[in-house]
Amino acid sequence: REPQSVSLLILGAGGDLTRRLLIPGLASLLSEHEYDVQVIGAAREERTDAEWRALIRDSFSQVTHPENADRYLESARYITGDVTDAAHLRTLLEACDHTPVIYFALPPAVTVTVCAALRKVELPEGTRLALEKPFGTDLRSARALNRVIAQLVPEEQVFRIDHFLGMSMVLNILGLRFANQFFESVWDARRIERVEIIYDELLGLEGRGGYYDHAGALVDMLQSHLLEVLALVAMEQPPRLNEVELRSNAAQVLRATHVWDDDPVASSRRARYTAGKVGDRRLPSYADEEGVDPALNTETLAQITLEVDTARWRGVPFVLRSGKALGQYVTQVRVHMRPVPEIPGFGGAPEPDSIMLDLKSGAVELGVTMNGSGDPFGLERSMLVAKKEPGHLLPYGQVLQGIVEGDPLLSVRADMAEECWRIVAPVLRAWKKNEVPLEEYAAGSLGPKGW
Ligand code: BG6
Repeated sequence: REPQSVSLLILGAGGDLTRRLLIPGLASLLSEHEYDVQVIGAAREERTDAEWRALIRDSFSQVTHPENADRYLESARYITGDVTDAAHLRTLLEACDHTPVIYFALPPAVTVTVCAALRKVELPEGTRLALEKPFGTDLRSARALNRVIAQLVPEEQVFRIDHFLGMSMVLNILGLRFANQFFESVWDARRIERVEIIYDELLGLEGRGGYYDHAGALVDMLQSHLLEVLALVAMEQPPRLNEVELRSNAAQVLRATHVWDDDPVASSRRARYTAGKVGDRRLPSYADEEGVDPALNTETLAQITLEVDTARWRGVPFVLRSGKALGQYVTQVRVHMRPVPEIPGFGGAPEPDSIMLDLKSGAVELGVTMNGSGDPFGLERSMLVAKKEPGHLLPYGQVLQGIVEGDPLLSVRADMAEECWRIVAPVLRAWKKNEVPLEEYAAGSLGPKGW
């Protein structure tokens, strides 16, 4: 597709997301590619154009020379007002010099209100909508939001953001799988015993208590990011790498996925942190964090086991886990192969092979068994390690490239977003009814015992 000139109209531009992720992502994109992007900030808070331009420059400096922002500053504008008001939205669209990309950096409830207001506004030809997660708050609200959005613009102009789909190591799952006989020939339930997708973080709430307390680890990480990763691990090879084929195959995996044994109580675990030390930072108990209502029983560590009920995967557990304030970063896809039968005459039992992809470091490790150095036929464990170069763009930059070029390949399609809610719905219900105990772990530990 031809790159185009766009006006990036950020609704909710006063928030942390804009400064910490969105503008740095844009900076990484514009350092690599020459696109004409006008950046318009819109929010309730008063701010001058000069302050907005300073914010853009400052956010650019997180990834590149701040001077690289200069050519985008002249056209950049900040407009104060109520973004839920149709008349104000018209004013904002009039300020756009190019095809507008309306970027919803807003909480789900406000997004719904803005979408409803946009129905009263005539959108310029080609207007694109970019929506941050969480997309809705459950299956019903996601469906309702999709219906409203479908009345505004065609689906190809809708970009539901999941920055994991912009991570070069996440996309590398497809390269590794489909470009190597090694992997593709063993990629099914006959050879693979179990898959784990783990995203443990050292980070705590980082001032996001108000948001996080209503999401929790399950919605913040598993329902969105980790299910997208699962879709790439489990999908059939798309006949073409375009937005229709790739996303249809991802959607097919998600449609086939359900909680293991359809038993959300036995197949899920949740916990939250108590006071402790993460590195040299002391964290209070989650319940004492700012913006947290302990009565909501929000988890900061979640694990669920799923089955992808297809001929390829039936009977293979996929374990998804993510947590905050843990003692070490583990951001891995781990594929555990089935054991080979014992080999007569060899010393020691062969350990099952394994494949590990580290989503942050880019390491790919194969755990293999071969003859060791002592007994000539004594089996020992070895690791084969390959390292992928990091991608040039930040994940947000990668996703923004699709938006600027009008290519939704790396964004979440309407049906995918709904399936993700459907998959976790039984777990959310069981947790709400307190059918699964809320365990505890000290901040900085490796989680509750036995996880
Ligand atoms: C975000 C979550 O979407 O992803 C955060 O809201 C989480 O809670 C983050 O920390 C993890 O992604 P990354 O790219 O920061 O490792």
